[in-house]
Amino acid sequence: KPCILIGAPVQDGAGRLGCDMGPSAYRAAGLREVLLDLDIEVYDRGNVALAPLRPIVHPNAAVRLLAEYDAWTRVLSQVAFETGGEGFPIFLGGDHSLSAGTISGMARRAAHEGRPLFVLWLDAHPDFHTLETTTSGNLHGTPMAYVTGQPGFMPFLPALHATTEPEHVCMIGIRSVDPAERTALRAAGVTVHDMRAVDEEGLAPLLRAFLDRVAAVHGVLHVSLDVDFLDPGIAPGVGTTVPGGATFRETHLAMEMLHDSGLVRSLDLVELNPFLDERGRTALLMVDLAASLMGRRIFDRPTRSF
Ligand code: ARG
Ligand code: MN
Ligand code: MN
Ligand code: MN
Repeated sequence: KPCILIGAPVQDGAGRLGCDMGPSAYRAAGLREVLLDLDIEVYDRGNVALAPLRPIVHPNAAVRLLAEYDAWTRVLSQVAFETGGEGFPIFLGGDHSLSAGTISGMARRAAHEGRPLFVLWLDAHPDFHTLETTTSGNLHGTPMAYVTGQPGFMPFLPALHATTEPEHVCMIGIRSVDPAERTALRAAGVTVHDMRAVDEEGLAPLLRAFLDRVAAVHGVLHVSLDVDFLDPGIAPGVGTTVPGGATFRETHLAMEMLHDSGLVRSLDLVELNPFLDERGRTALLMVDLAASLMGRRIFDRPTRSF
């Protein structure tokens, strides 16, 4: 299956501007070229344009740019549904609010094929606020609540064709959770492996257990990788750095395991803010991680020096 690159220059969900430059940064960092080096067929669809806005007012006065969130969600959900049937879409963010569209679209795609969608959420944050519980009003803090059908999103956001079961979501790397999110995650039954779990048990065993669950029911897996999953020391190009993130080695290992599982159908690369990056290093790291997920191996890298 070909790989389809889709730029999603979304920045309305984030608290600071700059994520709209993410798709360009991934292209400049050579994403297409690393995939071609792996003998993958690649199509770059360019950037998705925002759908027409419809005016929306929400009683929570903190909520910012809800009309834009609605419009991005509508267009990205449709694009994900379509491209998910044609190949392996990689969504180049863009802030994490774009996952409301990509995951809802992939859930519809999976349902269309009669298979359950699973989501691996690699992030410092669970992004599990509802429109009522967000206090920052930054809607990149809400997409997982939306796609899993938590209350209060209707009629403000598009109705879901297919809901992602909370029990089919596994979050790893979590280390910044607001009180309302904690309560809601527990009640919904989402698997949350926080950084303490990663430290005590190791990323690989936690991930393997989840992949076994996906494989057992012939599920379709969507991976959503937030730059702030990574430690800020190696990935400074993000607006919401949280200390104590995942390392270079454990993240590459996770990507390699995901490739080997053969279960992954689609990928979000989100929250890259090139304005905050240092000479493109975060963009380059994300590209290398995507390459590992798509099949690059240490032992067959074209640049090996022996
Ligand atoms: N929970 C915080 C909020 O609601 C942080 C969300 C950060 N999300 C993200 N996608 N970076 O504002
Ligand atoms: Mn996030
Ligand atoms: Mn985050
Ligand atoms: Mn492969």
